[in-house]
Amino acid sequence: MIRTALTRRFDLTTPVIGAPMAGVSGGELAAAVSLGGGLGMIGVAGSTTVDFLARQCAVPTARAVPFGVGLMAWVLPDRPDLLDATIAARPSLVSISFGDPAPYVGPLRAAGIAVAAQVNTVADVHRAQAAGVDLLVAQGSEAGGHTGARATLPLLQEVLALADRPVVAAGGIATGRGMAAALAAGATGVWIGTALLACPEALNTPRARARVRAAAGEETVLTRAFDVAQGLAWPERWPGRALVNDFSRTWHGREEELAADPDARGRVVEARRTDDLDQGPLYAGEAVGLVTDERSATDVVRGLSADAEQALRSVSELVD
Ligand SMILES: Cc1cc2nc3c(=O)[nH]c(=O)nc-3n(C[C@H](O)[C@H](O)[C@H](O)COP(=O)(O)O)c2cc1C
Repeated sequence: MIRTALTRRFDLTTPVIGAPMAGVSGGELAAAVSLGGGLGMIGVAGSTTVDFLARQCAVPTARAVPFGVGLMAWVLPDRPDLLDATIAARPSLVSISFGDPAPYVGPLRAAGIAVAAQVNTVADVHRAQAAGVDLLVAQGSEAGGHTGARATLPLLQEVLALADRPVVAAGGIATGRGMAAALAAGATGVWIGTALLACPEALNTPRARARVRAAAGEETVLTRAFDVAQGLAWPERWPGRALVNDFSRTWHGREEELAADPDARGRVVEARRTDDLDQGPLYAGEAVGLVTDERSATDVVRGLSADAEQALRSVSELVD
């Protein structure tokens, strides 16, 4: 068994956090991750309703397993109801990512909820520590979904050097070897998203899961094109890593033109409605090439942990 500050803090049997992924990680996925011994999280977007959030949180609660909720800082000024509904659902952990966590740390901690923040730069680390978060999540640009510009390993090392609290590694981790590498570097745990994209408990569609299983690691792009097309108020510093498709081939790098083309923008909005993966976004990270079969999230977490344990044992044999 691998024990770290993270497993002790949340009473886990493995230091794996299932990343919050809006539109993909609901209550079933979070519960399946937690049943595997990790901590599953529920992803919340600006369009999430409080009813939906409450229903998703009720799933792990009914199974008596811990869970977390991932909120986006830039969404909360317009949606304070999401913070209230999250606190009411009593998760063990809430992440406040993509913006300043400071206004939300006090109310969450007062409710007995631990707070994490994904960080993408050195300035983010200083801001999150000053805000008083419990956990820092060093999120590299290999990650699926919205992310920064720094790669996981150099960012992780720099965050570890600056941090005076536990650091979790995110971005590109989808095998026991990758998990062992992050732990050996000094991370207290790993935060995995892409590795869970082909799990049947996810809220994505069977068609999306099939596309994930077929995709190679080279087939992702970090782009603002999908956000511009949908008119989303995502801050520019966080583009999203998605699978390359017809839409990104045409519009990535031409975002200004795209903003002025209502027909092209409409194609993405329509594609999201009809699950057209050639025009709509399928967010996934560089680790997507390692996700080749549909497996329950419980099995993914258990397999990852068993392989990481083995990798850590063989690494220790390197030392004379
Ligand atoms: C489909 C998808 C949706 C995501 N949505 C969110 C989100 O709603 N909130 C958030 O904080 N992070 C989100 N992320 C980023 C994850 O929290 C995490 O940083 C990332 O998945 C880790 O890298 P990996 O995908 O290589 O495992 C998302 C990632 C993916 C793949």
